[in-house]
Amino acid sequence: MTARKLFVTTALPYANGNFHIGHIMEYIQADTWVRAQRMQGNAVNFVGADDAHGAPIMIAAEKAGKTPQQFVADIAAGRKQYLDGFHIAFDNWSNTDSPENHELSRQIYLDLKKAGFIETRTIEQFFDPEKNMFLPDRFIKGECPRCHAKDQYGDNCEVCSSVYAPTDLIAPYSALSGARPVLKTSEHFFFKLSDPRAVEFLTEWTQDGQHVQPEVAAKIKEWFGTRTNPDGSTSTGLDDWDISRDAPYFGIEIPDAPGKYFYVWLDAPVGYLASLKNLLNQRGEDYDAYMADPQLEQYHFIGKDIITFHTLFWPAMLKFSGRKTPTKICVHGFLTVNNGEKMSKSRGTGLDPLKYLALNMNPEWLRYYLGAKLNGRNEDIDFTAEDFMLRVNSDLIGKYVNIASRAAGFIAKRFGGKLGPVSADGQELLAALRGSQGAIVAAYEARDTARAARETMLLCDRVNAYVDANKPWELAKQEGMEARLHDVCTTCIEAFRILTIYLRPILPHVAAEVANFLIVPPEGFDDVARPLGAGHQIGEYKHLMQRVTPEQLDALFEPPAVEKPLPGGEAIAEAITIDDFAKVDLRIAKIVKCEAVEGSTKLLRLTLDAGEGQTRTVFSGIASMYQPAQLEGKLTVLVANLAPRKMKFGISEGMVLAASHADEKAHPGIYVLEPFPGAQPGMRIH
Ligand code: MSP
Ligand code: ZN
Repeated sequence: MTARKLFVTTALPYANGNFHIGHIMEYIQADTWVRAQRMQGNAVNFVGADDAHGAPIMIAAEKAGKTPQQFVADIAAGRKQYLDGFHIAFDNWSNTDSPENHELSRQIYLDLKKAGFIETRTIEQFFDPEKNMFLPDRFIKGECPRCHAKDQYGDNCEVCSSVYAPTDLIAPYSALSGARPVLKTSEHFFFKLSDPRAVEFLTEWTQDGQHVQPEVAAKIKEWFGTRTNPDGSTSTGLDDWDISRDAPYFGIEIPDAPGKYFYVWLDAPVGYLASLKNLLNQRGEDYDAYMADPQLEQYHFIGKDIITFHTLFWPAMLKFSGRKTPTKICVHGFLTVNNGEKMSKSRGTGLDPLKYLALNMNPEWLRYYLGAKLNGRNEDIDFTAEDFMLRVNSDLIGKYVNIASRAAGFIAKRFGGKLGPVSADGQELLAALRGSQGAIVAAYEARDTARAARETMLLCDRVNAYVDANKPWELAKQEGMEARLHDVCTTCIEAFRILTIYLRPILPHVAAEVANFLIVPPEGFDDVARPLGAGHQIGEYKHLMQRVTPEQLDALFEPPAVEKPLPGGEAIAEAITIDDFAKVDLRIAKIVKCEAVEGSTKLLRLTLDAGEGQTRTVFSGIASMYQPAQLEGKLTVLVANLAPRKMKFGISEGMVLAASHADEKAHPGIYVLEPFPGAQPGMRIH
């Protein structure tokens, strides 16, 4: 069979926050699938990117006192620790503000226009006269026209759940400035999905059983049905899609339409192609040639909330701009934590991925647990603490790891680390294990990792039954049973190798450790057929995985607010009076500039505005914690009346406040203080 050529993506996360556990689930699902493909010899390019554009990010950046580009870059800088931490191996991570995406988005738009799919229309929209911008629905608030609840959003009421247009609100106001919005007309660009060509293509594409799961196809079918419009009329088919937004907008300017930008969802999926192009450029490969290969398969892993964009808008954009359409849209459900409680950080019920890693919890526990629950269908799953502990401990430790730990010691101590011959009953067992290859590979292909894990655990049960029947620990004590002991332990090691290959897409790190221990190269699925063989030397067995403990789970879900102080912290200093405190003049200062200090790995040079009409220079020993770009534009606290100090690199005119543990070696980390929003440079701290 010739190798398949695959281009795989996950949804592009909005660049306005860190990853949460739902993102990590999606990445683990896709990463596992990609690894299983590679283990079949298929060639995969697996890419992601940050979704950088749109009004919410523009507004969040403004609030943070940063340019949108800087804001997005700061979020991007935090991605790696999550991805590396959970062994998620994207080949590239780009963002949708990249030059590749600007170019590709404009090109696709121009091709759609040429094909007659773009139309302009004048629409009326709320405009904020103070901010001088059109307001997205989410940024218009007012009184609900039905139940008269105050402060409801422009599109629906959170009190009575009614849905309406922003223009229906009573006493509307801008959530940005508080100003009363005015109605203003503007020319918008539409993608004509109502065109019969689009309807025909999408009906076929979504319903032919090839491109989406059956339960997803059924859902999409409803959208093609007859709808009642707000004015009482009915329509069938699809509505045209408004793809433009007016300046100011953080996005891609529409060709030949100054002041008009693509709506973020137009350029976001193009980011898939742009990230791929960026990767191929880095490798000196040709993007157009790569995409032109008719054998190339294109897979997008996404969650159930963004089906419309990926099964209607995106395939239509590609099709009618003359491009390759996706092979499959793989939709997963939502992950909830501890019996479906809504994930909320403040209430401490969420599962913080970084906290999980910081507690030294094994990332492959999570990969296995989620893998064992995901079955390839669009269904929600729940992370439940007790269930997690039971599943990981009984399957991974009790069934799988156990096999190696039971046999490895005897091979090392009694047979110089060399494997022996396997007799008929062992051969039969190994043949049964090999016989499951097809079923397990098919389960991975269907993203039914639950079935792949279940099948593999059944095989583990068979191997453990063989061990229990043959009792190597007793053979080891019996006269003349040397050869049988060697045979049984060799069978276990050969079996363990096959099981490891089956689990490798889910447990890449364990599989690498096993490869070290067995002294074999990294292996694909077809390698199950090839035994290590008598005389093969294996390495030293090191314990592969610890059990999950209840204490770890308690710590994981302990709400941050009640976290205990670190032991060994500093004792509270001697009491002072309010007058003593008043001697220290603490001021809010804005970090207008922040630079690395040449010749120092510890110091950053801060230029501070403390409302004095001129700036100050302060050197601060925080370079180990912050990139200069992370601090620029932020507010902090300055000790403003500290006598200037001459340092090697210049004069330091004050000191910024930062927190650290008394035992810096054991608990490294220094954290700069930042005031609540509203504080202004120069304000005194009392
Ligand atoms: N930026 C858009 C996607 C653009 S794709 C061209 C977006 N971003 S997102 O950050 O909100 O979501 C990214 C992905 O995470 C989506 O596939 C979404 O379904 C998924 N998830 C968000 N919350 C989730 C869970 N609780 N559980 C599982 N996946 C979830 O949408
Ligand atoms: Zn209401």
